[in-house]
Amino acid sequence: MKLKDRVAIVTGSGSGIGRAIALGMAREGARVAVVDLNEAGAQETVKEIQKEGGQAHPYRADVTQKAQIDAMVADVIKRWGTVHILVNNAGWDKAEPFIQSAEETWDKVLAINLKGPIICTRAVLDEMIKNGYGKIVSIASDAGRVGSTGEAVYSAAKGGIIAFTKTIAREMARHRINVNCVCPGPTDTPLFATVTAENPKLAESLKRVIPFGRLGLPEDLAPAVIFFASDDAGFITGQTLSVSGGLTMM
Ligand SMILES: NC(=O)c1ccc[n+]([C@@H]2O[C@H](COP(=O)([O-])OP(=O)(O)OC[C@H]3O[C@@H](n4cnc5c(N)ncnc54)[C@H](O)[C@@H]3O)[C@@H](O)[C@H]2O)c1
Repeated sequence: MKLKDRVAIVTGSGSGIGRAIALGMAREGARVAVVDLNEAGAQETVKEIQKEGGQAHPYRADVTQKAQIDAMVADVIKRWGTVHILVNNAGWDKAEPFIQSAEETWDKVLAINLKGPIICTRAVLDEMIKNGYGKIVSIASDAGRVGSTGEAVYSAAKGGIIAFTKTIAREMARHRINVNCVCPGPTDTPLFATVTAENPKLAESLKRVIPFGRLGLPEDLAPAVIFFASDDAGFITGQTLSVSGGLTMM
């Protein structure tokens, strides 16, 4: 088991990629704080983990609200003694041409996808510094590396997270905290379904250009995140890995 007795916080793990990461980490022996705005989704993930004999606890918390995230982290430390792993996975987007998008949408996209991971990272750092150990993995997006039509502000947020990751990786290296990013390509999740709802042909055309000939699945992402969260990646920090069936190569 790669994460035996580790304590992990996975945001947005009531659905999609986050749920697959939470399940995968629990299978590797971690105790998982399943954090989501969607309480029913978080409870469902916890139920699935417990059915397999794993340990998890649901938290309803909004990554854009610092007080809620600080309280959640304090409760995790009280419950399981410490925190070793943070996965910044919660995300949201509304696909539309930039010139049609409203300022309220920009604010929401930046709050969830950029400020959310900043808030969550800050919330775990004191404990990780105290331990001289920590693993932070943020789920960015290939949109943040190569751009994505209809996702201008989301791309800006994801590119911001990649840059934030590199700087935190530099600042935290002396404390033996590894900080890395995983970038999904188009992945079949409820979020992706909302993006393709506007353009039903998009999924088919993406399949044609992805060298592996299919969309990603949440289960494709989890092993890469578990790798960065494990001691196998102990000398790797500040890196960005695309998991996209070859759609992006850089
Ligand atoms: N699906 C894709 O094609 C794709 C591609 C690139 C990157 N991503 C990224 O992967 C991550 C997971 O996306 P997904 O496709 O699994 O989406 P999803 O919608 O299935 O899951 C996202 C979860 O985040 C939660 N969430 C949203 N806002 C939140 C908030 N403020 N506080 C707490 N939880 C919140 C939602 O309730 C949901 O359960 C996101 O960061 C997304 O940007 C997805």
